[in-house]
Amino acid sequence: MASKNIMDFDTVALDDAKGALVIIDQTKLPNELKILELTELKDIWEAIYLLRVRGAPAIGVAAAIGIYLAARQISAGDNDFDTFYSKFTEAKDYLASSRPTAVNLFWALGRMDNVVKANSDKSVEKIVEKLRDEAVEIREEDIRVCRSIGEYGLTLIQDGCGILTHCNAGQLATVKYGTALAPIHLGRERGYNFRVFADETRPLLQGARLTAYELQSNGIDTTVICDNMASQVMKNGWIDAIFVGCDRVAANGDACNKIGTSGLAILAKYYGIPFYVCAPTSTIDMTMKRGEDIEIEERPSHEVTEMWYKQRMAPEGVGVYNPAFDFADNELITAIITEYGIARPPYSASLKEIFAQKELTRHVGD
Ligand code: MRU
Repeated sequence: MASKNIMDFDTVALDDAKGALVIIDQTKLPNELKILELTELKDIWEAIYLLRVRGAPAIGVAAAIGIYLAARQISAGDNDFDTFYSKFTEAKDYLASSRPTAVNLFWALGRMDNVVKANSDKSVEKIVEKLRDEAVEIREEDIRVCRSIGEYGLTLIQDGCGILTHCNAGQLATVKYGTALAPIHLGRERGYNFRVFADETRPLLQGARLTAYELQSNGIDTTVICDNMASQVMKNGWIDAIFVGCDRVAANGDACNKIGTSGLAILAKYYGIPFYVCAPTSTIDMTMKRGEDIEIEERPSHEVTEMWYKQRMAPEGVGVYNPAFDFADNELITAIITEYGIARPPYSASLKEIFAQKELTRHVGD
């Protein structure tokens, strides 16, 4: 078992000297803390596809660093701007095909693309420098954003609270702190003691393998439950609040997150427990009107029937449905916690206010 405190490690980083994306291989946790240094675009694509690096914000940061490294390799050839941009676009589209649901992937690649377009009058070498600066900024921004979400989230809970979470929206899903787990980590820094229940999160066990490991390694009281035990712990009165992350929030507040999130939100409503979605603005997609518009990733059947088992646990040839995400209807969500404040229903208005706040802050900071 990997016994180090995960809070001391960066989930996603750039080693510019080695020309490498540095990640923790999350498929090996909790048994081994293995650090990977990836230099090739196809390995970065595969790391995202296979969930070696996962969680919406971490995917975005990995993609930004990945496309910077690809641009660096492309620029080593003798390229004019048009040739460079055509190869850059090919690499960007390839990375964008690694996973469909987390909007941060497209958001980060879009930001990198804008850098190239805004500097098309400069040398390819200069453009690559600007791409490095943008990738570093996207990464650093993620740390600030998660800390801010943690601060806002912390205002909604008290010392001693019982908290239920789903999947892993912690440090392992971001660069630092996480989104849904940020209030818990920040609370821990301030001496609060929370009791956290982590859904194991079938079929890839991000809760059992990652959240349990992350929280336990940071000294937080953690209990793993199977997904179908969530109702029981709520009925027992052990849960004061539910915190989840998300992969894409639609303009009406529908929040797409790991499969099982929708069911949890329904249970929370039944038991009268606040259901909080933690969402950096990079995860809010105002171009999507509602949850039904979001593409839901479907993953291979062996993740349900074979993975984690010594032998196959469903008959050969049986049908398998393996959607990786679902969405919580906006009417079930108590609040959406962003880095610019806490949005409350109706979200069609409050999310616009959050973006107005973001715009204002940007101009004040100019
Ligand atoms: O398939 P995954 O592990 O990438 O899914 C991750 C989640 O569903 C997280 O809750 C979400 O990305 C938010 S991470 C801060």
